[in-house]
Amino acid sequence: MSTHINANMGDIAPRVLLPGDPLRAKFIAEHFLENARCYSSVRNMLGFTGTYKGKEVSVQGTGMGGPSHSIYVNELIRFYGAKRLIRTGTCGSMDPTLRIKDMVIVQAAAADCGMNQIRFGIKGLVYPPVADFELLRDAVDAAKRLGYPARVATTYSGDLFYDDNAEEKEKLLQNYGVPCVEMECAELFTVAARLGAQALGILTVSDMIFEESHCSAKEREQSFTRMMEVALEAI
Ligand code: HPA
Repeated sequence: MSTHINANMGDIAPRVLLPGDPLRAKFIAEHFLENARCYSSVRNMLGFTGTYKGKEVSVQGTGMGGPSHSIYVNELIRFYGAKRLIRTGTCGSMDPTLRIKDMVIVQAAAADCGMNQIRFGIKGLVYPPVADFELLRDAVDAAKRLGYPARVATTYSGDLFYDDNAEEKEKLLQNYGVPCVEMECAELFTVAARLGAQALGILTVSDMIFEESHCSAKEREQSFTRMMEVALEAI
């Protein structure tokens, strides 16, 4: 057992999907995994292990934002032997050609991340959080095989959901080819690199940043089937 996950060694598979929302973890376990069992409900941050096409897979909620995500990813890798981790989450689109429910396979993360400022910025370094190439290739191949369109892109992992300077930052990054915003991929890629694990992000657009358009909470929980299929095939 670790501080935030009440499981025994062996309860969690080396392959782990990481939705932010613990109810989405439950949804994935109930709809996509066979013989799924819940291994932890500490803070209601549910985690399940089951099998997908004979492959043992876990799915662990991580909460929202880099610091919460960081705690779960650290514990999964350090204490339970997680080796391949895919964040399956939502993002906002700041690109008019990237629409609600579109899929993004994340190859890198720009960030205003306080955590990498602590790790690297104070030493005058800029660190580029990138996805694992093999997982990225496997996800692209899986999406192609399944016939699901997906854009490979850089995300913006922002620390502040409610940010006074959001529009300025998002427009600047959009000029540099960054089409979407979420809050966790930069920390996932950085921690995985530090601990020798493979990591990837697969995102579904839940809202348009510069338009009045977004998914309902129910849709957030239930309508991301294609992304989950790609993640389960790739993991
Ligand atoms: N901002 C940050 N994170 C998000 C968003 C957003 O608009 N949508 C989904 N995750």
